[in-house]
Amino acid sequence: MNIFDRLNSGIETRSPDETITIATLLAEALPTEAILTLEGELGAGKTTFVKGLAQAMGIQELITSPTFNIFNTYDSGIKTLIHMDAYRLNPDSNAIDELMLEDFITPPYCLAIEWPSNLGELPWPTTLPLEFTISRDEKHRIQSIAK
Ligand SMILES: Nc1ncnc2c1ncn2[C@@H]1O[C@H](COP(=O)(O)OP(=O)(O)OP(=O)(O)O)[C@@H](O)[C@H]1O
Ligand SMILES: [Mg+2]
Repeated sequence: MNIFDRLNSGIETRSPDETITIATLLAEALPTEAILTLEGELGAGKTTFVKGLAQAMGIQELITSPTFNIFNTYDSGIKTLIHMDAYRLNPDSNAIDELMLEDFITPPYCLAIEWPSNLGELPWPTTLPLEFTISRDEKHRIQSIAK
């Protein structure tokens, strides 16, 4: 099964390293320009997954959640990785229009967005919407929620 089929069925991971491995498999299969949305509760593994994306792109910098800004860009790898975390945004704030992201995105890129629902409707088509959950037995689950 390829990584897209596996994500459609849902993948359980038992460690941060396993989550990172899944992300590297996906990164290698993504189109040149990709927009991923990462939904799911606090601590479900979204940022861990972005670390895996960065690793696959050969990005050396440490990936940390953007705190003062809404997004961080990493351009030391084979693609530009833009890691956005909308956790602190208000869904009514229209923040996406004010970010002027187009000015920061140079192809090839991968845009990974945590808490996308806080951005309202995105002005771009999502390549892959992902949902992260923690199951009762402490396993972390990653599933594509493409309609
Ligand atoms: N299978 C797993 N996959 C991912 N993370 C795991 C796993 N098992 C344990 N963890 C731990 O769970 C935590 C996940 O944190 P992470 O920052 O990736 O979550 P998040 O979804 O980005 O949360 P937030 O919404 O607060 O940004 C980390 O401390 C990680 O070590
Ligand atoms: Mg996070």
